[in-house]
Amino acid sequence: MRTLKVALLGCGVVGAEVARHLALHQDDLTARIGARVELVGIAVRRPDRLRPGVPEDLVSTDAAALVARGDLDVVVEAIGGIETAGALIRSAIGHGASVVSANKALIAAQGAELHRAAREAGTDLFYEAAVGGAIPLLRPLRESLAGDRVNRVIGIVNGTTNFILDKMDSTGEEYEAALKEATTLGYAEADPTADVEGHDAAAKATILAGLAFNTRVTTDQVFVEGITGVTAADMAGARAMGSVVKLLAICERHPDGESVTVRVHPAMIPREHPLASVRGAYNAVLVEADAAGRLMFYGPGAGGAPTASSVLGDLVGACRNRLAGTAGSGDAVYRELPVRPMGEVVTSRHIELDVEERPGVLAAVAAVFAEHGVSVDTVRQHRGSTGTSLTVVTHRATDAALAATVEAVAGLSQVRAVTSTMRVESR
Ligand code: NDP
Ligand code: HSE
Repeated sequence: MRTLKVALLGCGVVGAEVARHLALHQDDLTARIGARVELVGIAVRRPDRLRPGVPEDLVSTDAAALVARGDLDVVVEAIGGIETAGALIRSAIGHGASVVSANKALIAAQGAELHRAAREAGTDLFYEAAVGGAIPLLRPLRESLAGDRVNRVIGIVNGTTNFILDKMDSTGEEYEAALKEATTLGYAEADPTADVEGHDAAAKATILAGLAFNTRVTTDQVFVEGITGVTAADMAGARAMGSVVKLLAICERHPDGESVTVRVHPAMIPREHPLASVRGAYNAVLVEADAAGRLMFYGPGAGGAPTASSVLGDLVGACRNRLAGTAGSGDAVYRELPVRPMGEVVTSRHIELDVEERPGVLAAVAAVFAEHGVSVDTVRQHRGSTGTSLTVVTHRATDAALAATVEAVAGLSQVRAVTSTMRVESR
């Protein structure tokens, strides 16, 4: 029986689980692949770190030498970051190996270039784990839905922020308190910037949009707004209208069919929306396609073992292709549709105003909406302990018109403050 040689780059949260599961399921993997998989080297930064269940004799610090051995069949990259990981993957491909990666930041930034290198070398480049952790999502988009036309992908693709928003919703606490809890429980990293500012979700949205619409999307074309500005008042406003706030990644085909929009931002969704019930650090993605209709993918979006499950699935696929002397489907992108700016996205808004209690206030506010061509869906006025609050939910309008409306309303002498404003996604 043939033996396929595998190298592992990185042995942290994800890499260590890959190494453990490789050892644990060796016999089953051999049977499923039809060849023995031998882990021949593990590159790390700190060789003396304790890694229970990981063969110590395979650990080294020279990742560059490992990928340049020339006899590797598959390299699994679980280091993270862009520059070093990118250089190692290019070298691995250049030396004839297929690559499995969990690295969304790298694929979002250099996916086109890496796919080109893999195609030229006749090797595989797989990265199922990069979006949605354990959830089989990229392969269904790339392969199962290849005969359909995907129109929209909307999802919760960051577990850390979903945990924080869920905490804020269930306890009424402010963002900082919920972040602290997420950090204590190990959901948020010591530096949570990439998660809470939305960049992690934006990298995932970049990958999803490319696969869904077969078009090149770059990270700088993705509108990104994180959750650091979400307040307890926003949460209370959402609750009052039977909604919940989620950080959403939304990739849509524009109605003209010839352009797309890709965005990441917090939004209110109705509690009966399928994504509203996604709690804690879980992920879920809804895919809408012409023939298939609405599909929902749900599961653990992070964590060592769940992510290793996806990595190992890719590894099996790459090994099978290796045995067959072939490579699987490469880059899904074959066109460059324009990516429209956020201002042109059609959405709606929930706007909460602290207003003076005197005649003409409602008329003045309504006039501003009319001037900007924004139609009002509902208005609710209620008196709180500190004054009168006016809650307006708009019909759908362009994001630019909605933003201009909020700015103009904030400038009215009758409006003391805009206490909350958030986009609303009802479908
Ligand atoms: P960790 O920080 O836990 O692990 C990174 C590993 O890479 C460590 O073993 C580290 O070595 C090693 N490393 C860092 N730099 C080098 C280098 N120059 N040469 C060799 N080894 C190096 O990260 P994760 O396991 O959490 O993440 C890995 C990848 O998986 C990332 O791309 C991440 O985005 C992705 N991912 C992670 C998920 C998760 O839940 N953690 C979920 C989905 C994807 P040492 O151990 O010695 O420090
Ligand atoms: N930091 C990411 C999250 C890890 O919280 O979802 C999974 O990509």
